[in-house]
Amino acid sequence: MKAYLTRRYTFPASHRLHLDDASESENQRVYGKCNNPHGHGHNYALEVTVSGQISAHGMVCDLGEFDRFVNTEVVSRYDHANLNTLPEFAKDVPTSENLCLAIFARLQKFTPARLEKIRLEETRKNTFEMGNMSL
Ligand code: NI
Repeated sequence: MKAYLTRRYTFPASHRLHLDDASESENQRVYGKCNNPHGHGHNYALEVTVSGQISAHGMVCDLGEFDRFVNTEVVSRYDHANLNTLPEFAKDVPTSENLCLAIFARLQKFTPARLEKIRLEETRKNTFEMGNMSL
């Protein structure tokens, strides 16, 4: 029988929403205060959902292995980072939508279970999801 596992991770990071190809007025109109040159921070919360058959150990996957993978691929990369300085945001604005794209691509490399969905909380008001939305 297939089961789903969701783990939650948190990391603080900063960003500035700014599109180099856009004019100053367009950046202001689209991003407002988030275009402030000094940037600002968020305490991101990331939920990662994977699925798989329940093993003889009674688990979808080994939690320690899963945590090590997510910490190596995502948490340690983005923890206390200025997202704008990372190569994945050299051209793309580090919105949470684009951060979800980068995180999803990294987590798809996990082989012991199937990546189904990620859910990224940026603030108490903003949450972004990517993957199988029917979950
Ligand atoms: Ni922001």
